[in-house]
Amino acid sequence: MITLTDIAYVRSGVADLGAATRFATEIVGLELAAPTDTKVAHLRADHRHHCLALVEGPSGVISSGFSVAGPDALEAAETELERSGFSVCRGSDVEARSRRVREFIAFDDPFGNRIELVSQQETITRPVAYARPAGITEFGHLCLDAPDVHEAYRFWSTRFNARVSDWIGDAACLMRIDPVHHKLAVFRGDGPGLCHMNFQVATIDDVFRNWNFLRSQKVEIEMGPGRHPQSTAIFLYFLGPEGFTYEYSFGVRRIEDEAGWVPRTFDPAEPGSIDMWLGPTTRPITQPQVRSAQDVLS
Ligand SMILES: [Fe+2]
Repeated sequence: MITLTDIAYVRSGVADLGAATRFATEIVGLELAAPTDTKVAHLRADHRHHCLALVEGPSGVISSGFSVAGPDALEAAETELERSGFSVCRGSDVEARSRRVREFIAFDDPFGNRIELVSQQETITRPVAYARPAGITEFGHLCLDAPDVHEAYRFWSTRFNARVSDWIGDAACLMRIDPVHHKLAVFRGDGPGLCHMNFQVATIDDVFRNWNFLRSQKVEIEMGPGRHPQSTAIFLYFLGPEGFTYEYSFGVRRIEDEAGWVPRTFDPAEPGSIDMWLGPTTRPITQPQVRSAQDVLS
């Protein structure tokens, strides 16, 4: 069993680095870290050096990173995955530096999503210099696609410490690795990819201010503002460049009584099961997993 201590980052390939970086800063509100590589833009939302890296190259998600406790835990994870038949690569020093981690390993989940496990992700104490006052407080969760969410749960719950918090029928599995209702979600989708990346905001007012701001900037709102009954989070999904879906949300449930929580199942066809406010529910667009010879450890 591999213990994930936190989510770490999303790494996404972009054909137009300038446009994607402008959107991440001027629209989403993230801080752009001082550039150290002309082909990578590191975006910061919280104590992490960055939680989103935009990498110039083929468009598509490159990897999703999760933290483990340290070098020993990483080595144990590498051994365990290899013993179970996964093909595991260890990142070079240069690749680890680009991720602002000391060490990492990479492998594909059974559905083709590239996962990276990292040790010692850099923390920055300086307050985040948000590019816009969107109210962001932290990188909240990430959501991957898989054709069968029950199979995906089997993978994440048997090999890792993920526990299901709630099911949305066969459409989604919402999982926790700490008291937050979900830090990892899997949505049903045809192929591997990143369904969306979530940022928590401080207040309900931020959600609605952002909604008005995004509309004024002619950004495509995919869903919301609405309220998910599972996590009780008030959500807003919107589409960034190159098919990358961002989400702001406020008020996610915490599950403090770990032993007492019983996962619930919601029928996605039932009104209110995705949005308690009964707004239109459109599935967010997934950015497909990028596959090319050079993408392996971009
Ligand atoms: Fe979400």
